[in-house]
Amino acid sequence: MESDHIYNSLYMVFVLTGMGGEVPFPWKRNKKLEKLLIRGGKRLKGTVKVSGAKNAAVAILPAAIMTDEKCIIDNLPYIDDVTVLAEILSELGARVTLDPAGRITIEPSYVNTYRADYNMVKRMRASYYLLGVLLGRFGRAEVAFPGGCEIGVRPIDQHIKGFEALGANVNIKNGIIYAEAEKLIGTEIYLDVVSVGATINIMLAAVRAEGTTTIVNAAKEPHVVDVANFLNTMGANIKGAGTDIIRIDGVDKLYGCEYTIIPDQIEAGTFMIAAAATNGDVTVKNVIPKHLEAVTAKLLETGMKVVEGDDYLRVVGTGVPRGVNVKTFPYPGFPTDLQQPMTVFLSIADGTSIITENVWESRYKHVAELKKMGANIKVDDRIAIIEGVEQLTGAPVKATDLRAGAALIIAGLIADGVTEIGNIKHIDRGYEHIEHKFIKLGADIERITVDQDGNVKKPSLVV
Ligand code: UD1
Repeated sequence: MESDHIYNSLYMVFVLTGMGGEVPFPWKRNKKLEKLLIRGGKRLKGTVKVSGAKNAAVAILPAAIMTDEKCIIDNLPYIDDVTVLAEILSELGARVTLDPAGRITIEPSYVNTYRADYNMVKRMRASYYLLGVLLGRFGRAEVAFPGGCEIGVRPIDQHIKGFEALGANVNIKNGIIYAEAEKLIGTEIYLDVVSVGATINIMLAAVRAEGTTTIVNAAKEPHVVDVANFLNTMGANIKGAGTDIIRIDGVDKLYGCEYTIIPDQIEAGTFMIAAAATNGDVTVKNVIPKHLEAVTAKLLETGMKVVEGDDYLRVVGTGVPRGVNVKTFPYPGFPTDLQQPMTVFLSIADGTSIITENVWESRYKHVAELKKMGANIKVDDRIAIIEGVEQLTGAPVKATDLRAGAALIIAGLIADGVTEIGNIKHIDRGYEHIEHKFIKLGADIERITVDQDGNVKKPSLVV
Protein backbone atom coordinates (compact mmCIF):
# COMPACT_ATOMS: atom_id res chain seq x y z
CA MET A 1 0.00 0.00 0.00
CA GLU A 2 2.76 2.40 1.02
CA SER A 3 4.85 1.69 -2.09
CA ASP A 4 1.81 2.18 -4.34
CA HIS A 5 1.33 5.54 -2.75
CA ILE A 6 4.90 6.64 -3.44
CA TYR A 7 4.75 5.30 -6.97
CA ASN A 8 1.64 7.29 -7.71
CA SER A 9 3.04 10.51 -6.31
CA LEU A 10 6.12 10.07 -8.46
CA TYR A 11 3.94 9.34 -11.45
CA MET A 12 2.42 12.78 -11.23
CA VAL A 13 5.78 14.54 -10.82
CA PHE A 14 7.18 12.65 -13.78
CA VAL A 15 4.41 13.71 -16.08
CA LEU A 16 4.71 17.34 -15.12
CA THR A 17 8.49 17.38 -15.39
CA GLY A 18 8.05 15.79 -18.78
CA MET A 19 6.28 18.97 -19.90
CA GLY A 20 9.69 20.61 -19.98
CA GLY A 21 9.11 23.20 -17.27
CA GLU A 22 12.13 24.21 -15.22
CA VAL A 23 10.01 23.92 -12.08
CA PRO A 24 7.21 21.37 -12.43
CA PHE A 25 5.04 22.86 -9.71
CA PRO A 26 4.99 26.66 -10.01
CA TRP A 27 3.55 27.00 -6.51
CA LYS A 28 6.73 25.47 -5.10
CA ARG A 29 8.84 28.44 -6.19
CA ASN A 30 9.78 30.86 -3.45
CA LYS A 31 7.13 33.43 -4.23
CA LYS A 32 8.02 35.54 -1.23
CA LEU A 33 10.62 37.14 -3.44
CA GLU A 34 8.44 37.58 -6.50
CA LYS A 35 6.57 40.78 -7.28
CA LEU A 36 4.52 42.27 -10.03
CA LEU A 37 5.77 45.59 -11.32
CA ILE A 38 3.24 47.74 -13.14
CA ARG A 39 3.79 51.02 -14.93
CA GLY A 40 0.32 52.50 -15.06
CA GLY A 41 -1.47 54.63 -17.59
CA LYS A 42 -2.02 52.23 -20.49
CA ARG A 43 -5.53 51.72 -21.91
CA LEU A 44 -6.30 48.02 -22.24
CA LYS A 45 -7.29 47.03 -25.77
CA GLY A 46 -7.88 43.74 -27.53
CA THR A 47 -9.25 40.32 -26.73
CA VAL A 48 -8.66 38.11 -23.72
CA LYS A 49 -9.71 34.48 -23.39
CA VAL A 50 -11.06 33.47 -20.00
CA SER A 51 -9.84 30.21 -18.45
CA GLY A 52 -11.89 27.49 -16.77
CA ALA A 53 -13.62 28.27 -13.48
CA LYS A 54 -11.38 27.87 -10.44
CA ASN A 55 -14.25 27.39 -8.03
CA ALA A 56 -15.72 24.61 -10.17
CA ALA A 57 -12.32 22.97 -10.69
CA VAL A 58 -11.50 22.79 -6.99
CA ALA A 59 -14.65 20.73 -6.39
CA ILE A 60 -14.70 18.71 -9.62
CA LEU A 61 -11.13 17.45 -9.25
CA PRO A 62 -11.68 15.82 -5.85
CA ALA A 63 -15.13 14.60 -6.99
CA ALA A 64 -13.35 12.58 -9.67
CA ILE A 65 -12.04 10.18 -7.03
CA MET A 66 -15.60 9.14 -6.10
CA THR A 67 -15.44 6.52 -8.83
CA ASP A 68 -12.88 3.82 -9.59
CA GLU A 69 -12.83 4.71 -13.23
CA LYS A 70 -10.81 7.23 -15.21
CA CYS A 71 -12.02 10.83 -15.52
CA ILE A 72 -10.68 13.32 -18.05
CA ILE A 73 -11.40 16.94 -17.30
CA ASP A 74 -10.83 19.76 -19.78
CA ASN A 75 -10.72 23.55 -19.67
CA LEU A 76 -8.93 23.48 -16.34
CA PRO A 77 -7.27 26.71 -15.30
CA TYR A 78 -3.52 26.14 -14.81
CA ILE A 79 -3.35 27.88 -11.46
CA ASP A 80 -1.67 27.02 -8.18
CA ASP A 81 -4.93 25.83 -6.57
CA VAL A 82 -5.28 23.26 -9.35
CA THR A 83 -1.67 22.05 -9.31
CA VAL A 84 -1.80 21.80 -5.52
CA LEU A 85 -5.02 19.83 -5.68
CA ALA A 86 -3.64 17.54 -8.39
CA GLU A 87 -0.76 16.82 -6.08
CA ILE A 88 -3.06 16.19 -3.10
CA LEU A 89 -5.05 13.68 -5.18
CA SER A 90 -1.84 11.98 -6.20
CA GLU A 91 -0.79 11.85 -2.55
CA LEU A 92 -4.09 10.12 -1.80
CA GLY A 93 -3.09 7.46 -4.32
CA ALA A 94 -4.72 8.58 -7.58
CA ARG A 95 -2.68 8.51 -10.78
CA VAL A 96 -2.80 12.03 -12.10
CA THR A 97 -1.63 13.40 -15.43
CA LEU A 98 -1.86 17.18 -15.52
CA ASP A 99 -1.30 18.94 -18.79
CA PRO A 100 -0.61 22.66 -18.29
CA ALA A 101 -2.70 23.30 -21.42
CA GLY A 102 -5.75 22.61 -19.24
CA ARG A 103 -6.50 18.89 -19.21
CA ILE A 104 -6.21 16.46 -16.34
CA THR A 105 -6.58 12.70 -16.32
CA ILE A 106 -7.39 11.17 -12.94
CA GLU A 107 -7.24 7.42 -12.41
CA PRO A 108 -8.60 6.96 -8.90
CA SER A 109 -8.70 3.18 -8.51
CA TYR A 110 -5.53 3.27 -6.40
CA VAL A 111 -6.93 5.75 -3.86
CA ASN A 112 -6.55 3.85 -0.64
CA THR A 113 -6.87 6.32 2.19
CA TYR A 114 -9.59 8.45 3.72
CA ARG A 115 -7.01 10.65 5.49
CA ALA A 116 -5.84 14.06 4.32
CA ASP A 117 -3.45 15.53 6.87
CA TYR A 118 -2.57 19.14 7.54
CA ASN A 119 0.55 19.08 5.37
CA MET A 120 -1.63 18.13 2.42
CA VAL A 121 -4.55 20.49 2.90
CA LYS A 122 -2.99 23.59 4.45
CA ARG A 123 -2.21 24.97 1.02
CA MET A 124 -5.80 25.49 -0.01
CA ARG A 125 -9.13 26.40 1.48
CA ALA A 126 -11.24 24.29 -0.84
CA SER A 127 -9.60 21.07 0.35
CA TYR A 128 -12.69 20.82 2.58
CA TYR A 129 -14.39 19.16 -0.40
CA LEU A 130 -12.32 16.09 0.42
CA LEU A 131 -14.66 15.62 3.39
CA GLY A 132 -17.76 15.11 1.24
CA VAL A 133 -15.80 13.11 -1.33
CA LEU A 134 -14.13 10.69 1.08
CA LEU A 135 -17.27 10.33 3.17
CA GLY A 136 -19.21 9.48 0.01
CA ARG A 137 -16.56 7.04 -1.23
CA PHE A 138 -15.40 5.34 1.99
CA GLY A 139 -18.11 6.27 4.50
CA ARG A 140 -15.25 7.81 6.42
CA ALA A 141 -13.07 10.93 6.18
CA GLU A 142 -10.31 12.49 8.25
CA VAL A 143 -9.39 15.87 6.89
CA ALA A 144 -7.40 18.59 8.61
CA PHE A 145 -8.80 22.12 8.74
CA PRO A 146 -7.87 23.85 5.50
CA GLY A 147 -5.79 26.94 4.69
CA GLY A 148 -6.65 29.46 1.94
CA CYS A 149 -7.60 33.14 1.79
CA GLU A 150 -7.87 35.25 4.93
CA ILE A 151 -11.14 37.00 4.22
CA GLY A 152 -12.90 36.58 7.52
CA VAL A 153 -13.96 33.77 9.79
CA ARG A 154 -14.67 30.84 7.49
CA PRO A 155 -16.86 28.48 9.45
CA ILE A 156 -17.90 25.08 8.09
CA ASP A 157 -20.75 24.48 10.53
CA GLN A 158 -23.26 24.13 7.68
CA HIS A 159 -21.12 21.48 5.98
CA ILE A 160 -20.97 19.55 9.26
CA LYS A 161 -24.69 20.00 9.91
CA GLY A 162 -25.33 18.49 6.47
CA PHE A 163 -23.07 15.47 7.03
CA GLU A 164 -24.66 14.85 10.43
CA ALA A 165 -28.14 15.06 8.94
CA LEU A 166 -27.06 12.37 6.45
CA GLY A 167 -26.19 10.15 9.40
CA ALA A 168 -22.46 10.78 9.88
CA ASN A 169 -20.78 11.23 13.23
CA VAL A 170 -18.58 14.28 13.01
CA ASN A 171 -15.92 15.18 15.59
CA ILE A 172 -13.19 17.76 15.61
CA LYS A 173 -9.98 17.01 17.48
CA ASN A 174 -6.53 18.59 17.24
CA GLY A 175 -7.42 20.49 14.08
CA ILE A 176 -8.73 17.42 12.28
CA ILE A 177 -12.32 16.80 11.22
CA TYR A 178 -13.33 13.15 11.66
CA ALA A 179 -16.50 12.06 9.88
CA GLU A 180 -17.82 8.53 9.83
CA ALA A 181 -21.06 6.86 8.82
CA GLU A 182 -22.08 3.26 8.66
CA LYS A 183 -24.54 4.31 6.02
CA LEU A 184 -25.44 7.73 4.63
CA ILE A 185 -29.19 8.17 4.42
CA GLY A 186 -30.88 10.92 2.41
CA THR A 187 -32.91 13.57 4.21
CA GLU A 188 -33.94 17.23 3.98
CA ILE A 189 -31.23 19.73 4.93
CA TYR A 190 -31.99 23.41 5.38
CA LEU A 191 -28.94 25.68 5.16
CA ASP A 192 -29.03 28.59 7.63
CA VAL A 193 -26.82 30.63 5.31
CA VAL A 194 -26.50 30.39 1.55
CA SER A 195 -23.14 28.66 1.31
CA VAL A 196 -21.42 27.54 -1.88
CA GLY A 197 -19.07 25.24 0.01
CA ALA A 198 -21.77 23.59 2.13
CA THR A 199 -24.09 23.11 -0.86
CA ILE A 200 -21.37 21.40 -2.89
CA ASN A 201 -19.98 19.36 0.00
CA ILE A 202 -23.41 18.02 0.98
CA MET A 203 -24.16 17.27 -2.66
CA LEU A 204 -20.89 15.29 -2.90
CA ALA A 205 -21.69 13.09 0.08
CA ALA A 206 -25.39 12.77 -0.80
CA VAL A 207 -24.83 11.31 -4.27
CA ARG A 208 -23.81 8.07 -2.54
CA ALA A 209 -26.45 8.20 0.22
CA GLU A 210 -29.37 5.83 0.31
CA GLY A 211 -32.58 7.58 -0.78
CA THR A 212 -33.28 11.22 -1.49
CA THR A 213 -31.53 14.27 -0.08
CA THR A 214 -33.02 17.72 -0.48
CA ILE A 215 -30.89 20.81 0.13
CA VAL A 216 -33.09 23.80 0.88
CA ASN A 217 -31.71 27.37 0.65
CA ALA A 218 -28.91 26.05 -1.55
CA ALA A 219 -26.35 28.28 -3.27
CA LYS A 220 -27.12 28.93 -6.96
CA GLU A 221 -23.65 29.87 -8.24
CA PRO A 222 -22.70 28.67 -11.73
CA HIS A 223 -19.98 26.47 -10.22
CA VAL A 224 -22.58 24.69 -8.05
CA VAL A 225 -24.41 23.83 -11.28
CA ASP A 226 -21.16 22.78 -12.94
CA VAL A 227 -20.29 20.37 -10.12
CA ALA A 228 -23.82 18.91 -10.27
CA ASN A 229 -23.48 18.47 -14.06
CA PHE A 230 -20.14 16.73 -13.58
CA LEU A 231 -21.58 14.37 -10.96
CA ASN A 232 -24.56 13.65 -13.20
CA THR A 233 -22.14 12.83 -16.04
CA MET A 234 -20.58 10.34 -13.61
CA GLY A 235 -24.00 8.74 -13.12
CA ALA A 236 -25.40 10.74 -10.19
CA ASN A 237 -29.02 11.87 -10.12
CA ILE A 238 -29.12 15.54 -9.10
CA LYS A 239 -31.96 17.87 -10.03
CA GLY A 240 -32.52 21.53 -9.33
CA ALA A 241 -28.92 22.77 -9.17
CA GLY A 242 -29.05 26.48 -9.96
CA THR A 243 -32.25 26.90 -7.92
CA ASP A 244 -32.43 27.11 -4.15
CA ILE A 245 -33.76 23.56 -3.79
CA ILE A 246 -31.51 20.74 -4.94
CA ARG A 247 -32.74 17.16 -4.93
CA ILE A 248 -30.26 14.32 -4.98
CA ASP A 249 -31.34 10.71 -5.46
CA GLY A 250 -28.49 8.55 -4.18
CA VAL A 251 -26.89 6.00 -6.51
CA ASP A 252 -24.81 2.87 -5.81
CA LYS A 253 -22.05 3.56 -8.27
CA LEU A 254 -20.40 6.43 -10.11
CA TYR A 255 -18.54 6.00 -13.40
CA GLY A 256 -15.60 7.60 -15.19
CA CYS A 257 -16.35 10.35 -17.67
CA GLU A 258 -15.03 13.21 -19.78
CA TYR A 259 -16.06 16.68 -18.80
CA THR A 260 -15.35 20.30 -19.72
CA ILE A 261 -15.38 22.93 -16.98
CA ILE A 262 -17.33 26.19 -17.45
CA PRO A 263 -15.52 29.51 -17.93
CA ASP A 264 -14.49 31.45 -14.83
CA GLN A 265 -16.98 34.23 -14.29
CA ILE A 266 -14.81 35.92 -11.68
CA GLU A 267 -11.78 36.06 -13.97
CA ALA A 268 -14.07 37.40 -16.70
CA GLY A 269 -15.47 40.04 -14.35
CA THR A 270 -11.94 41.04 -13.32
CA PHE A 271 -11.02 41.76 -16.96
CA MET A 272 -14.32 43.58 -17.55
CA ILE A 273 -13.67 45.89 -14.61
CA ALA A 274 -10.03 46.36 -15.65
CA ALA A 275 -11.18 47.33 -19.15
CA ALA A 276 -13.61 49.88 -17.77
CA ALA A 277 -11.12 51.26 -15.23
CA THR A 278 -8.42 51.85 -17.86
CA ASN A 279 -10.96 53.45 -20.19
CA GLY A 280 -10.12 50.63 -22.57
CA ASP A 281 -11.86 48.49 -25.16
CA VAL A 282 -11.64 44.81 -24.33
CA THR A 283 -13.51 41.78 -25.60
CA VAL A 284 -13.65 39.13 -22.90
CA LYS A 285 -14.03 35.82 -24.74
CA ASN A 286 -15.10 32.34 -23.68
CA VAL A 287 -17.68 33.54 -21.17
CA ILE A 288 -21.30 32.75 -20.41
CA PRO A 289 -22.72 36.31 -20.42
CA LYS A 290 -25.64 35.33 -18.19
CA HIS A 291 -23.19 34.54 -15.37
CA LEU A 292 -22.00 38.15 -15.51
CA GLU A 293 -25.32 39.96 -15.55
CA ALA A 294 -24.74 41.64 -12.18
CA VAL A 295 -21.36 42.99 -13.31
CA THR A 296 -22.68 44.10 -16.69
CA ALA A 297 -25.57 45.92 -15.00
CA LYS A 298 -23.23 47.75 -12.61
CA LEU A 299 -20.80 48.78 -15.35
CA LEU A 300 -23.71 50.13 -17.40
CA GLU A 301 -24.87 52.07 -14.33
CA THR A 302 -21.44 53.72 -14.10
CA GLY A 303 -21.87 54.87 -17.71
CA MET A 304 -19.60 52.29 -19.40
CA LYS A 305 -20.61 50.52 -22.61
CA VAL A 306 -21.05 46.74 -22.59
CA VAL A 307 -21.82 44.74 -25.73
CA GLU A 308 -23.05 41.20 -25.22
CA GLY A 309 -22.42 38.35 -27.69
CA ASP A 310 -23.06 34.62 -27.52
CA ASP A 311 -19.82 33.82 -25.75
CA TYR A 312 -18.21 37.19 -25.23
CA LEU A 313 -18.68 40.54 -23.52
CA ARG A 314 -17.05 43.66 -24.90
CA VAL A 315 -16.46 46.48 -22.43
CA VAL A 316 -15.75 49.94 -23.77
CA GLY A 317 -14.66 52.73 -21.43
CA THR A 318 -16.46 56.06 -21.84
CA GLY A 319 -14.35 58.28 -19.60
CA VAL A 320 -14.80 59.00 -15.91
CA PRO A 321 -17.34 56.58 -14.37
CA ARG A 322 -20.28 57.72 -12.28
CA GLY A 323 -20.15 56.71 -8.61
CA VAL A 324 -22.63 53.92 -7.81
CA ASN A 325 -23.62 51.78 -4.86
CA VAL A 326 -22.79 48.08 -4.82
CA LYS A 327 -24.16 45.41 -2.49
CA THR A 328 -22.63 41.95 -2.63
CA PHE A 329 -24.93 38.95 -2.45
CA PRO A 330 -24.88 35.26 -3.35
CA TYR A 331 -25.52 34.58 -7.05
CA PRO A 332 -27.28 36.09 -8.97
CA GLY A 333 -26.34 39.13 -6.86
CA PHE A 334 -23.13 41.09 -7.34
CA PRO A 335 -20.33 38.62 -6.46
CA THR A 336 -18.27 39.29 -3.37
CA ASP A 337 -15.23 38.07 -5.31
CA LEU A 338 -15.50 41.14 -7.55
CA GLN A 339 -16.13 43.61 -4.74
CA GLN A 340 -12.42 44.37 -4.39
CA PRO A 341 -11.78 45.05 -8.10
CA MET A 342 -14.97 47.15 -8.15
CA THR A 343 -13.71 49.20 -5.19
CA VAL A 344 -10.67 50.17 -7.26
CA PHE A 345 -12.77 51.19 -10.25
CA LEU A 346 -15.06 53.31 -8.08
CA SER A 347 -12.07 54.94 -6.37
CA ILE A 348 -11.64 57.09 -9.50
CA ALA A 349 -15.38 57.62 -10.11
CA ASP A 350 -17.16 60.92 -10.09
CA GLY A 351 -18.78 61.40 -6.68
CA THR A 352 -19.46 59.04 -3.81
CA SER A 353 -19.96 55.29 -4.00
CA ILE A 354 -21.07 53.02 -1.18
CA ILE A 355 -20.18 49.35 -1.07
CA THR A 356 -21.93 46.95 1.26
CA GLU A 357 -20.18 43.61 1.72
CA ASN A 358 -22.88 41.18 2.74
CA VAL A 359 -21.03 37.88 2.31
CA TRP A 360 -17.68 38.14 4.15
CA GLU A 361 -17.20 40.19 7.28
CA SER A 362 -13.64 41.33 6.71
CA ARG A 363 -13.08 41.74 3.05
CA TYR A 364 -11.66 45.25 3.01
CA LYS A 365 -8.00 44.52 3.66
CA HIS A 366 -7.16 45.89 0.21
CA VAL A 367 -8.45 49.31 1.26
CA ALA A 368 -5.38 50.05 3.39
CA GLU A 369 -3.23 49.30 0.33
CA LEU A 370 -5.39 51.46 -1.94
CA LYS A 371 -5.06 54.35 0.48
CA LYS A 372 -1.28 54.19 -0.03
CA MET A 373 -2.08 54.84 -3.67
CA GLY A 374 -4.18 57.90 -2.89
CA ALA A 375 -7.68 56.41 -2.73
CA ASN A 376 -10.16 58.07 -0.40
CA ILE A 377 -12.10 55.25 1.23
CA LYS A 378 -13.59 54.92 4.71
CA VAL A 379 -14.57 51.51 6.04
CA ASP A 380 -17.12 51.02 8.76
CA ASP A 381 -17.76 47.35 9.46
CA ARG A 382 -19.32 45.96 6.25
CA ILE A 383 -19.64 49.32 4.51
CA ALA A 384 -17.02 51.15 2.48
CA ILE A 385 -17.64 54.77 1.51
CA ILE A 386 -15.59 55.79 -1.50
CA GLU A 387 -15.04 59.41 -2.45
CA GLY A 388 -13.72 59.32 -6.01
CA VAL A 389 -10.31 60.89 -6.64
CA GLU A 390 -8.95 62.09 -9.97
CA GLN A 391 -5.96 59.78 -10.04
CA LEU A 392 -4.31 56.98 -8.08
CA THR A 393 -0.54 57.06 -7.75
CA GLY A 394 1.82 54.07 -7.89
CA ALA A 395 3.16 52.67 -4.62
CA PRO A 396 4.60 49.48 -3.13
CA VAL A 397 1.63 47.41 -1.94
CA LYS A 398 0.85 43.86 -0.82
CA ALA A 399 -1.81 41.42 -1.95
CA THR A 400 -3.64 40.34 1.20
CA ASP A 401 -5.75 37.68 -0.54
CA LEU A 402 -6.55 36.43 -4.02
CA ARG A 403 -9.11 38.99 -5.18
CA ALA A 404 -7.39 41.82 -3.30
CA GLY A 405 -4.37 40.96 -5.46
CA ALA A 406 -6.43 41.24 -8.65
CA ALA A 407 -7.80 44.55 -7.40
CA LEU A 408 -4.28 45.88 -6.81
CA ILE A 409 -3.29 44.95 -10.36
CA ILE A 410 -6.17 47.07 -11.65
CA ALA A 411 -5.11 49.86 -9.29
CA GLY A 412 -1.57 49.65 -10.69
CA LEU A 413 -2.88 49.76 -14.27
CA ILE A 414 -4.73 53.03 -13.68
CA ALA A 415 -2.21 54.66 -11.33
CA ASP A 416 0.26 57.31 -12.31
CA GLY A 417 3.76 55.87 -11.94
CA VAL A 418 5.03 52.49 -10.79
CA THR A 419 3.20 50.05 -8.54
CA GLU A 420 5.01 47.10 -7.02
CA ILE A 421 2.76 44.31 -5.72
CA GLY A 422 4.18 41.87 -3.18
CA ASN A 423 2.73 38.65 -1.75
CA ILE A 424 1.60 37.58 -5.20
CA LYS A 425 1.34 33.92 -4.27
CA HIS A 426 -2.30 34.75 -3.56
CA ILE A 427 -2.87 35.94 -7.13
CA ASP A 428 -1.24 32.84 -8.65
CA ARG A 429 -3.63 30.63 -6.67
CA GLY A 430 -6.52 31.75 -8.82
CA TYR A 431 -5.51 33.57 -12.01
CA GLU A 432 -3.90 31.76 -14.92
CA HIS A 433 -0.98 33.53 -16.63
CA ILE A 434 -2.23 36.79 -15.19
CA GLU A 435 0.55 39.10 -16.32
CA HIS A 436 0.66 37.56 -19.79
CA LYS A 437 -3.02 38.10 -20.32
CA PHE A 438 -2.68 41.75 -19.29
CA ILE A 439 0.45 42.25 -21.42
CA LYS A 440 -1.49 40.98 -24.45
CA LEU A 441 -4.01 43.73 -23.77
CA GLY A 442 -1.27 46.35 -23.79
CA ALA A 443 -0.50 46.62 -20.07
CA ASP A 444 3.02 47.36 -18.90
CA ILE A 445 3.39 44.68 -16.25
CA GLU A 446 6.19 42.26 -15.43
CA ARG A 447 7.03 39.66 -12.82
CA ILE A 448 10.30 40.31 -11.08
CA THR A 449 12.34 38.51 -8.46
CA VAL A 450 13.96 40.59 -5.76
CA ASP A 451 16.71 39.70 -3.29
CA GLN A 452 16.33 39.88 0.51
CA ASP A 453 17.08 43.63 0.41
CA GLY A 454 14.42 44.25 -2.22
CA ASN A 455 16.84 44.75 -5.14
CA VAL A 456 15.61 43.41 -8.46
CA LYS A 457 17.49 40.24 -9.41
CA LYS A 458 15.82 39.21 -12.64
CA PRO A 459 12.52 38.92 -14.38
CA SER A 460 10.89 35.74 -13.06
CA LEU A 461 10.09 32.50 -14.74
CA VAL A 462 6.90 32.33 -16.71
CA VAL A 463 4.13 30.70 -14.67
C1 UD1 B 1 -16.86 30.23 -2.11
C2 UD1 B 1 -15.80 30.71 -3.05
C3 UD1 B 1 -15.33 32.12 -2.66
C4 UD1 B 1 -16.51 33.05 -2.56
C5 UD1 B 1 -17.62 32.48 -1.68
C6 UD1 B 1 -18.88 33.32 -1.73
C7 UD1 B 1 -14.81 28.60 -3.62
C8 UD1 B 1 -13.62 27.72 -3.54
N1 UD1 B 1 -14.71 29.78 -3.00
O1 UD1 B 1 -16.27 30.17 -0.82
O2 UD1 B 1 -14.44 32.56 -3.66
O3 UD1 B 1 -16.10 34.29 -2.01
O4 UD1 B 1 -17.96 31.15 -2.12
O5 UD1 B 1 -19.35 33.44 -3.02
O6 UD1 B 1 -15.80 28.28 -4.25
N2 UD1 B 1 -20.76 30.20 6.13
C9 UD1 B 1 -21.19 29.79 7.37
N3 UD1 B 1 -21.12 28.46 7.66
C10 UD1 B 1 -20.67 27.53 6.77
C11 UD1 B 1 -20.24 27.96 5.51
C12 UD1 B 1 -20.30 29.31 5.21
O7 UD1 B 1 -21.60 30.59 8.20
O8 UD1 B 1 -20.65 26.34 7.10
C13 UD1 B 1 -20.82 31.64 5.78
C14 UD1 B 1 -19.44 32.23 5.54
O9 UD1 B 1 -18.85 32.68 6.74
C15 UD1 B 1 -19.75 33.37 4.59
C16 UD1 B 1 -20.97 32.85 3.78
O10 UD1 B 1 -21.50 31.77 4.54
O11 UD1 B 1 -20.14 34.50 5.30
C17 UD1 B 1 -20.65 32.35 2.39
O12 UD1 B 1 -19.64 31.35 2.45
P1 UD1 B 1 -19.51 30.19 1.36
O13 UD1 B 1 -20.48 30.45 0.25
O14 UD1 B 1 -19.56 28.89 2.05
O15 UD1 B 1 -18.03 30.44 0.83
P2 UD1 B 1 -17.00 29.37 0.36
O16 UD1 B 1 -17.70 28.20 -0.24
O17 UD1 B 1 -15.99 29.14 1.40
